[in-house]
Amino acid sequence: MSRANPLDTRACRLFGVRYPVVQTGMGWVSGPELTSATANAGGLGILASGTLSLPEMVAGIRAVRGRTDAPFGVNLVGTAPDVEDRARALVDEGVRVASFALAPKQRVFALLKDAGVVVVPSIGARRHAEKMAGWGADAVLVQGGEGGGHTGPVPTSILLPQVVDAVDIPVIAAGGFFDGRGLVAALAYGAEGIAMGTRFLLTRDSTVPAHVKQAYLDADVTGTVVTDLIDGVPQRVLRTPLVETLTAAGRVATLRRSITGAVALRRAVGSSWPDVIRQGLAMRRQRGLSWGQLLMAANTPMMIRTGMVDGRVDIGSLASGQVAGLIDELPSCAELIDRVMADARKTLDRLEGTP
Ligand SMILES: Cc1cc2nc3c(=O)[nH]c(=O)nc-3n(C[C@H](O)[C@H](O)[C@H](O)COP(=O)(O)O)c2cc1C
Repeated sequence: MSRANPLDTRACRLFGVRYPVVQTGMGWVSGPELTSATANAGGLGILASGTLSLPEMVAGIRAVRGRTDAPFGVNLVGTAPDVEDRARALVDEGVRVASFALAPKQRVFALLKDAGVVVVPSIGARRHAEKMAGWGADAVLVQGGEGGGHTGPVPTSILLPQVVDAVDIPVIAAGGFFDGRGLVAALAYGAEGIAMGTRFLLTRDSTVPAHVKQAYLDADVTGTVVTDLIDGVPQRVLRTPLVETLTAAGRVATLRRSITGAVALRRAVGSSWPDVIRQGLAMRRQRGLSWGQLLMAANTPMMIRTGMVDGRVDIGSLASGQVAGLIDELPSCAELIDRVMADARKTLDRLEGTP
């Protein structure tokens, strides 16, 4: 008797995509090129918007639309002062999926859901997943500690089954995934798909400068480190000269640099100082940060830009998952997704004993 295709999951139907593979929102990395390449390859591409002004975000959405007819998502920072306006823009632009780096107010969820937008917050702890499910999230993206960027202390192998057991909505597994075996493993835990950041950064469709990609390819599995010295919140990054310097320089020097960066970011995303302070208060509430840590947090996007766009491996911040140590080539998004799906099918056959 033939059984249903295990790789055709609830997530595929929810997102309207062929494969249960998500390319996550990554500031300065997942622009229209990467997002549309993923969408055209049958995965869910997500455009990052935390580092864009509202008009830039809308222009980015239209640029993706110009490159693909397939559904895609946009990553929002839930604590952004204009998050409600951004949510309305997603509705107006007909975006299929809204993902969130930090949770917004519940009414933003309601606004999106009433308009039929699929809402997928990222979480790093079970209690957050439960809260988001209670608010009506359509799915949660669960990121284990080995994942790149802001990350929690619990590894994917522990967090994923914990969250799957706690909520009924589809769970997308993130943190450490790069191949088809990982997809099958995530499904075995009860997830409905995988989301990958670092693996998609390391494709030919990503616009990150070649020598920056090379720094990732050169890393081994101990080549990343979790530090709160960059922005006050634990973040997994490549162990670059910047990280070594920060560790040696201490907190006062770090804070001084962070204030400079916060000023630059405010200009770049076009927010006013009252906006910055409002966003700061929201982050203080959500994450329990000190004002010093907040200034540092505001600095992160500029430091990522220095690395990912300006190509300054020495002074920029290069968020990276530990999985960088397992990656040594740069496929296109289409090659990557085809390979993940073919490996997943082969893995399922192997488990079933099919020759
Ligand atoms: C360079 C980089 C930038 C990131 N920026 C964001 C972001 O803007 N918003 C967000 O929700 N997550 C961000 N993340 C986290 C990713 O979306 C994703 O959850 C993570 O990369 C998964 O782990 P992996 O790197 O092992 O695949 C970023 C990750 C990286 C590597």
